[in-house]
Amino acid sequence: MGKEKEVRDVDIIVSRADKEGNITYGNPIFMKFSGYNKDELLNKPHSILRHPLMPKSIFKVLWDFLQKGKEVKVFVINKSKNGDFYRVYAQIKPVYTSDGSFRSYVSTRRKSNPAAWSIIVPLYKRLKEIEESEGMDAAIGELVKFIKQNGGNSLDDFNSVMEALQTDHISV
Ligand SMILES: Cc1cc2nc3c(=O)[nH]c(=O)nc-3n(C[C@H](O)[C@H](O)[C@H](O)COP(=O)(O)O)c2cc1C
Repeated sequence: MGKEKEVRDVDIIVSRADKEGNITYGNPIFMKFSGYNKDELLNKPHSILRHPLMPKSIFKVLWDFLQKGKEVKVFVINKSKNGDFYRVYAQIKPVYTSDGSFRSYVSTRRKSNPAAWSIIVPLYKRLKEIEESEGMDAAIGELVKFIKQNGGNSLDDFNSVMEALQTDHISV
C-alpha cells in the first residue's frame, strides 16, 4: 500500500460523469490527487480511481441511488496513479437540464472525518469478506444490519447514517 495523501479542508475534489460513470470533467484538484493528467482521465471510467479496499457492495448502493435519481453520500478510499491513496467523503448527485433530461453525475469530495474511519474500515473489511464468501446479497444484508445498528431502518437511510458519521453524530 502506498502513502496517504492528506486531503485538507480547502481541498474540494470535483468530477463529473456521464450515465456510465465515464469522467467528463475533473477540477485541477481532482487531477492533482489522482496523479493523472487530463488526457489520461477524460472519457475513462471513474473506476480508474478504485482502491482494492473498497467493497463492491458500496458501489452497488452508490449506483442504485444514482439510477433512482437520488444523491448518495459515501466514504471512499481512492488510489492515485503512483499507488498512493487518499480518503474522502463524497457527495454524488445527478444533475438535470432545464427540460428535465439527464445532464451528468457530479461528485464533490471533501476531507472526511478522521474518526469515522475507525467504523468505516472494519465495515468495509467485513463487506468485502462477505462478498467473497457469500456474495453480494449477503453483503448488502450486512450493510442493512449496520444501518439499523446506527439508527436507520433500511438501505434508504444509508445517506443519513453516512452523514451522521461525517458530522460526528455517531460516536466511535
Ligand atoms: C460522478 C461519479 C463519481 C465517482 N467517483 C468515484 C471515485 O472517486 N472512486 C471510485 O472508486 N469510484 C467512483 N465512482 C464509481 C465508479 O463508477 C465505479 O462504480 C467504481 O469505481 C467501482 O468500479 P466497478 O464498477 O468497475 O467495479 C464514481 C461514479 C460516479 C457516477
